[in-house]
Amino acid sequence: MSVYSRIAHAGFRSRIMPAAQAAELIGSGDTVGMSGFTGSGYPKAVPMALAERIEAERAAGRPFRISVWTGASTGPELDGALAKADGIEFRLPYNSDPIARERINKGEMNYFDMHLSQVAPMAWQGFLGNLDVAVVEVTAIRDDGGLVPSSSIGNNKTWLDRAKKVILEVNRWQNPALEGMHDIYYGTALPPYRVPIPLVRPDDRIGSAYLRVDPDKVVGVVETDVPDRNLPFAAPDAAANAIAGHLMEFFRHEVARKRLPASLLPIQSGVGNVANAVLSGLVDSPFDDLTAYTEVIQDGMLDLLDCGKLRMASATAFSLSPQAAERINTGMERYRDRMILRPQEISNHPELIRRLGCIAMNGLIEADIYGAVNSTHVMGSRIQNGIGGSGDFARNAYISIFMTPSTAKNGQISAIVPQVSHVDHIAQDVQILVTEQGLADLRGLSPKERARLIIAHCAHPDFRPMLTDYFERALRGSYGLQSPSLPDEALSWHYRFMTTGSMRP
Ligand code: COA
Repeated sequence: MSVYSRIAHAGFRSRIMPAAQAAELIGSGDTVGMSGFTGSGYPKAVPMALAERIEAERAAGRPFRISVWTGASTGPELDGALAKADGIEFRLPYNSDPIARERINKGEMNYFDMHLSQVAPMAWQGFLGNLDVAVVEVTAIRDDGGLVPSSSIGNNKTWLDRAKKVILEVNRWQNPALEGMHDIYYGTALPPYRVPIPLVRPDDRIGSAYLRVDPDKVVGVVETDVPDRNLPFAAPDAAANAIAGHLMEFFRHEVARKRLPASLLPIQSGVGNVANAVLSGLVDSPFDDLTAYTEVIQDGMLDLLDCGKLRMASATAFSLSPQAAERINTGMERYRDRMILRPQEISNHPELIRRLGCIAMNGLIEADIYGAVNSTHVMGSRIQNGIGGSGDFARNAYISIFMTPSTAKNGQISAIVPQVSHVDHIAQDVQILVTEQGLADLRGLSPKERARLIIAHCAHPDFRPMLTDYFERALRGSYGLQSPSLPDEALSWHYRFMTTGSMRP
């Protein structure tokens, strides 16, 4: 393959440069919009070169920090390298990198954790400030200047449109057969000019297969050949398999009651090992002709596509283990017509999620006996990842499901607590709660009914007596009896863990 084979446009070819030279085009204090959503489609060479430059500048007594906007989390060459160099002043909208997480939790990096559907609109509304530079990975550049997107779309359309200058990374590792898989919708507008988005089925294509960029803004083109990097998924453990089992039984029941069609409704599956295990559970289920309208395509979705259960999947990114990435890369022709990657403002759009009637399935850190969910903060103050798209889907889904093992940290923590230490999803947005212990269908229940059901069905037996005792005392000593609580005691479980290493007395 010739070095130029991915860059057909002569004007862009003339701007090819080494990553270090492109990194020189970024200044301290700049806001940089980078591509990337989970470990897919993020720029790899320029952020690494920038991290080196930041370290050199600091060594020379010149502090150098930037603001970084992305689609969601990225890989070690971006978040990891820049955070290690202490080069990130401000970050949005989602992070799962351990080094960046540590910096955020030490107070060394400002982090705006936000709904993923709102990033692009907020950037257009001007609430986030100016975007100085976009650094976007693409698979190829066509002779007409159209950009073949990479393994994620995220906010790339918005970054390319909004940034004053653009650096493109053309990654030869990405499969050229990705061309044609994407659907970039250019019809979004700000109020009062918004119109309905013309998507009524997950399969609909409403845009272009290519990203557009004003060639005059492109200041550098960097060629790379570096693989996407996602962590492998753990093999489903007993808890994950039990959660999947409860959910399959629930779906069967809903189909029998005619509250769901036999092909279910478009599935949204969150991040993490449990979500992936549930997808694997669908492989052996009686449900056919499934669709997915979701944020990321994980390993479990490939299995569902391979076995023919899943007709098609719409998302904004791949989030595949190295083995699955290899699998999709070698068999792209087989998958391409059954997958669509879209901008995250479309994959996560509340209007579309509500219209399609998605079944949202997301993980959590802890839930309380009334069904409120904490997805983001360990012990109420320490960020784990961020809310991601869970809020976009949970509030607007046809059925909003949250799932978790009933305990964490070797059984020392109960995932079901009297009161969550941080609220991401209010009880009204949580309809089904499921742990390996069982499933609580909270639809149509009052808070007291919810509490009894969650304790009985979802809490671990070791913690059930403590939760029951708390609830019974709250029923007797509470200021009001709609949602009984004992404020002094409600968060004492968390304090106990922080001081003794266990929520157990
Ligand atoms: N208290 C304290 N720590 C807890 C905990 C609890 N109740 N529950 C989990 N944890 C810890 C785990 O011990 C683990 O810590 P470690 O990294 O030190 O080992 C960490 O949190 C992650 O837990 P894990 O069981 O591996 O979770 P997961 O992979 O199933 O992910 C979330 C769970 C909540 C972190 C994940 O779903 C998430 O980030 N959600 C928010 C974003 C989202 O939902 N996106 C999808 C939208 S499309």
